[in-house]
Amino acid sequence: MINVTQTYLPPLEQYEKYLKELWENRWVTNNGKFVQQLEADIKKYLGVKHFFFCTNGTVVLQMAIKALQLKGKIITTPFSYVATVNSILWEECEPVFVDVKASDCCINDALIEQQITPDTSAILATHVYGNPCNVEAIKKIADKYNLKVIYDGAHAFGTTLNGKQLLSYGDVSTCSFHATKLFHTIEGGGIMTNDDVVARQLYLFRQFGHVYDEYFSVGINAKNSEFHAAMGLCLLPEVEKFIEKRKLVADWYAEELKGLNIQIPHSSLNIRYNHAYHPVIFESEKKLLAVMEGLKTENIFARRYFYPSLNSLPFVKKISCPVSEDISSRVLSLPLFYEITREEVELISSVIKKILN
Ligand SMILES: Cc1ncc(COP(=O)(O)O)c(C=O)c1O
Repeated sequence: MINVTQTYLPPLEQYEKYLKELWENRWVTNNGKFVQQLEADIKKYLGVKHFFFCTNGTVVLQMAIKALQLKGKIITTPFSYVATVNSILWEECEPVFVDVKASDCCINDALIEQQITPDTSAILATHVYGNPCNVEAIKKIADKYNLKVIYDGAHAFGTTLNGKQLLSYGDVSTCSFHATKLFHTIEGGGIMTNDDVVARQLYLFRQFGHVYDEYFSVGINAKNSEFHAAMGLCLLPEVEKFIEKRKLVADWYAEELKGLNIQIPHSSLNIRYNHAYHPVIFESEKKLLAVMEGLKTENIFARRYFYPSLNSLPFVKKISCPVSEDISSRVLSLPLFYEITREEVELISSVIKKILN
């Protein structure tokens, strides 16, 4: 079986070294040594002032909305994972969808201004597949209307924009370190900001709002454990190696699928792409379904990601987003992971070619 992704695990002995230490000192959670070390290392890697290691990439979105004290309407993208819109609804704000660009599937910054009203408090956009939103245009709009900006960077770890880590942009950025991500901590998430006041709030939120016996604010439990941090410490030094291999796999796909009527979302900004995913957009949903079926018969599982377009969910206020609806009906993420082989890419590509030709 070939799945859309396969979790990379470090050599067992490497992880065991951390386990041995945990068995000796019995400090397994609550801001332990490994969590602190991982936070320091990631802060350095990202070039941000504050970074908090948390339990997942969803709770950090909720914390971001709460820390920025957002109310009313939040402009967001319909082309993302459901966690993005769920976090807005969970924090009792109203999502206002703005359509995406067909080229990179990120929010169409040219359409944002027309959706801003006096009730709008923020823009929450996703760096889709690790490709950047137009962060400079979005900052200009946010400054003009006094809005906060949150980036859902669940896919963005390792992408750089103009030589700077993409996750360093925005008032707050978040990331997912779920086992399916290129850098993972089994379950996990991160939140970063350069603002000291917001950082203090995030720090408190993560641990129930109190420090020892002093209670400062409402809070939640978003702390992650030493076991998760240890996985992160094993994998962080390997991130560049992961990205290089993913780029190589993307090149294999490009070579194999050359000449077919498919598109790949891509950024026209000055980036070093992290190759978080390998999405392909087919000519029609019918073709996509035929390819999925063909792959399944070979025990290969690609994933419709993102599908459906979030503006069509039964619990949101409907706003038409034709580009997002169209792309989400035709896009498929092909298997991409560190250990995939050239032969496997050839097999996947041969099934696609047989169906499309
Ligand atoms: C764009 C986006 N946002 C948020 C999340 C949620 O992350 P997690 O699964 O770590 O909660 C995901 C998960 O894949 C995602 O793709």
